[in-house]
Amino acid sequence: MEPMEIIRQRHSVRRYLDKPLAGDVRDKLEAFTALCNQESGLHIQLLCNEPAGFSRTFSRCANYLAFTGPRAPGLEERCGYYGEKILLFAQELGLRSCWAGLSHAKRAKAYTLENGEVFVIAAALGYGEDDGKERKSKKPEEVMKVRGEIPDWFRSGTEAALLAPTAMNRQAFTLELQKDGAVRLRYALGPFWQVDLGIVRYHFEIGAGKENFRWHDE
Ligand SMILES: Cc1cc2nc3c(=O)[nH]c(=O)nc-3n(C[C@H](O)[C@H](O)[C@H](O)COP(=O)(O)O)c2cc1C
Repeated sequence: MEPMEIIRQRHSVRRYLDKPLAGDVRDKLEAFTALCNQESGLHIQLLCNEPAGFSRTFSRCANYLAFTGPRAPGLEERCGYYGEKILLFAQELGLRSCWAGLSHAKRAKAYTLENGEVFVIAAALGYGEDDGKERKSKKPEEVMKVRGEIPDWFRSGTEAALLAPTAMNRQAFTLELQKDGAVRLRYALGPFWQVDLGIVRYHFEIGAGKENFRWHDE
Protein backbone atom coordinates (compact mmCIF):
# COMPACT_ATOMS: atom_id res chain seq x y z
CA MET A 1 0.00 0.00 0.00
CA GLU A 2 1.16 3.56 -0.72
CA PRO A 3 2.60 5.23 2.39
CA MET A 4 0.22 8.21 2.04
CA GLU A 5 -2.73 5.81 1.88
CA ILE A 6 -1.64 4.23 5.18
CA ILE A 7 -1.30 7.69 6.72
CA ARG A 8 -4.82 8.60 5.58
CA GLN A 9 -6.27 5.39 7.01
CA ARG A 10 -4.62 5.72 10.43
CA HIS A 11 -6.71 7.09 13.29
CA SER A 12 -6.38 6.58 17.03
CA VAL A 13 -8.23 3.45 18.15
CA ARG A 14 -8.84 2.90 21.86
CA ARG A 15 -11.13 -0.14 21.78
CA TYR A 16 -9.72 -3.49 20.79
CA LEU A 17 -10.87 -7.04 20.11
CA ASP A 18 -10.03 -9.77 22.56
CA LYS A 19 -7.73 -11.42 20.04
CA PRO A 20 -3.98 -12.03 20.40
CA LEU A 21 -1.65 -10.92 17.61
CA ALA A 22 -1.21 -13.57 14.92
CA GLY A 23 2.20 -15.28 15.07
CA ASP A 24 3.48 -13.86 11.76
CA VAL A 25 2.23 -10.36 12.58
CA ARG A 26 4.01 -10.45 15.91
CA ASP A 27 7.22 -11.75 14.29
CA LYS A 28 7.18 -8.97 11.69
CA LEU A 29 6.58 -6.32 14.34
CA GLU A 30 9.39 -7.69 16.52
CA ALA A 31 11.79 -7.70 13.57
CA PHE A 32 10.83 -4.17 12.49
CA THR A 33 11.14 -2.88 16.07
CA ALA A 34 14.59 -4.47 16.35
CA LEU A 35 15.68 -2.66 13.16
CA CYS A 36 14.39 0.65 14.52
CA ASN A 37 16.22 0.07 17.80
CA GLN A 38 19.43 -0.66 15.93
CA GLU A 39 19.15 2.51 13.87
CA SER A 40 18.05 4.83 16.70
CA GLY A 41 19.83 3.53 19.79
CA LEU A 42 16.44 3.34 21.52
CA HIS A 43 15.10 0.38 23.48
CA ILE A 44 11.53 0.06 22.19
CA GLN A 45 9.81 -3.02 23.61
CA LEU A 46 6.78 -4.86 22.29
CA LEU A 47 4.70 -6.29 25.14
CA CYS A 48 1.99 -8.78 24.23
CA ASN A 49 -0.84 -10.32 26.29
CA GLU A 50 -0.43 -7.77 29.08
CA PRO A 51 -3.99 -6.56 29.75
CA ALA A 52 -3.01 -4.64 32.92
CA GLY A 53 -0.97 -2.14 30.93
CA PHE A 54 -3.70 0.41 30.23
CA SER A 55 -6.23 2.56 32.02
CA ARG A 56 -9.97 2.27 31.44
CA THR A 57 -9.92 4.89 28.69
CA PHE A 58 -8.79 1.97 26.58
CA SER A 59 -10.90 -1.13 26.15
CA ARG A 60 -9.36 -4.61 25.98
CA CYS A 61 -5.90 -3.36 25.12
CA ALA A 62 -3.49 -6.22 25.78
CA ASN A 63 -0.52 -5.25 23.60
CA TYR A 64 1.61 -2.19 23.66
CA LEU A 65 4.93 -0.65 22.77
CA ALA A 66 6.98 0.80 25.61
CA PHE A 67 9.41 3.49 24.50
CA THR A 68 12.51 3.51 26.62
CA GLY A 69 16.10 4.44 25.97
CA PRO A 70 19.24 5.93 27.43
CA ARG A 71 18.77 9.52 28.62
CA ALA A 72 20.30 11.67 25.89
CA PRO A 73 19.46 14.84 23.97
CA GLY A 74 16.68 14.19 21.49
CA LEU A 75 15.46 11.01 23.23
CA GLU A 76 11.76 12.00 23.16
CA GLU A 77 11.88 13.17 19.57
CA ARG A 78 13.50 9.91 18.47
CA CYS A 79 10.75 7.97 20.30
CA GLY A 80 8.16 9.92 18.31
CA TYR A 81 9.93 9.48 14.98
CA TYR A 82 10.66 5.76 15.24
CA GLY A 83 7.46 5.03 17.14
CA GLU A 84 5.32 6.48 14.38
CA LYS A 85 7.32 4.48 11.85
CA ILE A 86 6.43 1.30 13.76
CA LEU A 87 2.76 2.29 14.23
CA LEU A 88 2.33 2.95 10.49
CA PHE A 89 3.97 -0.40 9.78
CA ALA A 90 1.52 -2.00 12.25
CA GLN A 91 -1.38 -0.24 10.48
CA GLU A 92 -0.31 -1.86 7.22
CA LEU A 93 -0.25 -5.25 8.98
CA GLY A 94 -3.92 -4.75 9.87
CA LEU A 95 -3.43 -3.51 13.44
CA ARG A 96 -4.79 -0.31 14.97
CA SER A 97 -3.06 1.81 17.58
CA CYS A 98 -3.04 4.84 19.85
CA TRP A 99 -0.18 6.74 21.46
CA ALA A 100 -0.60 6.91 25.22
CA GLY A 101 1.23 9.58 27.17
CA LEU A 102 -0.95 9.29 30.23
CA SER A 103 -3.44 6.47 29.71
CA HIS A 104 -1.05 3.67 30.54
CA ALA A 105 -0.84 2.23 34.03
CA LYS A 106 2.75 2.76 35.12
CA ARG A 107 2.45 0.36 38.02
CA ALA A 108 1.51 -2.52 35.75
CA LYS A 109 4.65 -2.14 33.72
CA ALA A 110 5.94 -5.21 31.98
CA TYR A 111 8.84 -3.50 30.26
CA THR A 112 12.38 -3.51 31.58
CA LEU A 113 14.77 -0.64 32.09
CA GLU A 114 18.43 -1.32 31.64
CA ASN A 115 21.15 0.76 33.26
CA GLY A 116 20.56 4.47 32.73
CA GLU A 117 17.42 3.97 30.65
CA VAL A 118 14.24 5.96 31.14
CA PHE A 119 10.65 5.36 30.13
CA VAL A 120 9.23 8.00 27.76
CA ILE A 121 5.80 6.95 26.51
CA ALA A 122 3.67 3.96 25.45
CA ALA A 123 1.46 3.13 22.48
CA ALA A 124 -1.43 0.68 22.52
CA LEU A 125 -1.90 -1.67 19.61
CA GLY A 126 -3.98 -4.62 18.53
CA TYR A 127 -6.92 -5.59 16.34
CA GLY A 128 -9.32 -2.68 16.50
CA GLU A 129 -13.01 -2.90 17.33
CA ASP A 130 -13.22 -0.33 14.54
CA ASP A 131 -10.84 1.76 12.40
CA GLY A 132 -11.18 5.00 14.37
CA LYS A 133 -12.47 8.15 12.75
CA GLU A 134 -11.42 11.42 11.20
CA ARG A 135 -10.93 14.31 13.59
CA LYS A 136 -10.70 18.06 13.35
CA SER A 137 -7.51 19.41 11.85
CA LYS A 138 -5.82 22.74 11.33
CA LYS A 139 -5.66 23.94 7.74
CA PRO A 140 -2.37 23.89 5.80
CA GLU A 141 -2.38 27.70 5.67
CA GLU A 142 -2.34 27.83 9.47
CA VAL A 143 0.94 25.92 9.76
CA MET A 144 2.84 26.71 6.53
CA LYS A 145 5.25 29.62 6.30
CA VAL A 146 6.33 30.13 2.71
CA ARG A 147 7.26 33.24 0.76
CA GLY A 148 6.26 33.01 -2.87
CA GLU A 149 5.10 29.90 -4.63
CA ILE A 150 4.50 26.73 -2.60
CA PRO A 151 6.25 23.69 -4.11
CA ASP A 152 4.08 20.57 -4.50
CA TRP A 153 6.36 18.48 -2.28
CA PHE A 154 6.04 21.05 0.52
CA ARG A 155 2.26 21.01 0.26
CA SER A 156 2.08 17.20 0.38
CA GLY A 157 4.54 17.13 3.29
CA THR A 158 2.30 19.54 5.17
CA GLU A 159 -0.78 17.49 4.36
CA ALA A 160 0.92 14.38 5.81
CA ALA A 161 2.08 16.36 8.87
CA LEU A 162 -1.50 17.47 9.57
CA LEU A 163 -2.61 13.83 9.52
CA ALA A 164 -0.06 12.98 12.24
CA PRO A 165 -1.30 12.15 15.72
CA THR A 166 -0.33 14.77 18.32
CA ALA A 167 -0.98 14.84 22.07
CA MET A 168 -4.50 16.19 22.65
CA ASN A 169 -4.61 16.90 18.91
CA ARG A 170 -2.66 20.11 19.55
CA GLN A 171 -0.95 20.28 16.14
CA ALA A 172 1.16 23.09 17.61
CA PHE A 173 3.73 23.17 14.82
CA THR A 174 4.82 25.41 11.99
CA LEU A 175 6.68 24.38 8.86
CA GLU A 176 8.79 27.06 7.27
CA LEU A 177 10.37 26.88 3.84
CA GLN A 178 13.52 28.94 4.24
CA LYS A 179 15.22 31.03 1.57
CA ASP A 180 18.06 28.49 1.34
CA GLY A 181 15.50 25.75 0.53
CA ALA A 182 15.72 23.98 3.91
CA VAL A 183 12.60 23.22 5.95
CA ARG A 184 12.34 24.38 9.54
CA LEU A 185 9.95 22.57 11.88
CA ARG A 186 9.02 24.30 15.13
CA TYR A 187 6.73 23.03 17.90
CA ALA A 188 5.24 25.02 20.79
CA LEU A 189 6.09 23.75 24.28
CA GLY A 190 3.41 21.61 25.94
CA PRO A 191 2.77 18.04 27.12
CA PHE A 192 4.82 15.56 25.06
CA TRP A 193 5.78 18.27 22.55
CA GLN A 194 9.09 16.62 21.69
CA VAL A 195 7.42 13.27 20.97
CA ASP A 196 4.92 15.15 18.76
CA LEU A 197 7.84 16.83 16.99
CA GLY A 198 9.34 13.47 16.03
CA ILE A 199 5.98 12.12 14.83
CA VAL A 200 5.29 15.20 12.71
CA ARG A 201 8.82 15.12 11.29
CA TYR A 202 8.35 11.52 10.17
CA HIS A 203 4.99 12.29 8.53
CA PHE A 204 6.40 15.32 6.69
CA GLU A 205 9.26 13.23 5.28
CA ILE A 206 6.78 10.67 3.94
CA GLY A 207 4.52 13.27 2.34
CA ALA A 208 7.30 15.46 0.91
CA GLY A 209 9.73 12.72 -0.10
CA LYS A 210 13.03 12.82 1.77
CA GLU A 211 14.92 13.22 -1.52
CA ASN A 212 13.19 16.55 -2.25
CA PHE A 213 14.48 18.61 0.68
CA ARG A 214 16.71 18.86 3.72
CA TRP A 215 15.87 19.86 7.27
CA HIS A 216 17.11 23.17 8.66
CA ASP A 217 18.98 21.36 11.45
CA GLU A 218 20.57 18.66 9.31
C1 LIG B 1 2.43 12.04 22.27
C2 LIG B 1 0.99 11.61 22.32
C3 LIG B 1 0.39 11.27 23.53
C4 LIG B 1 -0.95 10.85 23.57
N1 LIG B 1 -1.49 10.46 24.77
C5 LIG B 1 -2.78 10.00 24.81
C6 LIG B 1 -3.33 9.52 26.05
O1 LIG B 1 -2.68 9.51 27.10
N2 LIG B 1 -4.61 9.05 26.03
C7 LIG B 1 -5.36 9.02 24.88
O2 LIG B 1 -6.51 8.57 24.94
N3 LIG B 1 -4.86 9.47 23.69
C8 LIG B 1 -3.59 9.95 23.64
N4 LIG B 1 -3.04 10.37 22.43
C9 LIG B 1 -3.84 10.29 21.18
C10 LIG B 1 -4.28 11.67 20.68
O3 LIG B 1 -5.34 12.15 21.47
C11 LIG B 1 -4.67 11.58 19.19
O4 LIG B 1 -3.56 11.18 18.46
C12 LIG B 1 -5.16 12.93 18.64
O5 LIG B 1 -6.37 13.30 19.26
C13 LIG B 1 -5.36 12.90 17.13
O6 LIG B 1 -6.24 11.90 16.72
P1 LIG B 1 -5.80 10.78 15.66
O7 LIG B 1 -4.66 10.03 16.27
O8 LIG B 1 -7.02 9.95 15.44
O9 LIG B 1 -5.34 11.49 14.41
C14 LIG B 1 -1.71 10.80 22.37
C15 LIG B 1 -1.10 11.15 21.16
C16 LIG B 1 0.23 11.53 21.12
C17 LIG B 1 0.86 11.85 19.80
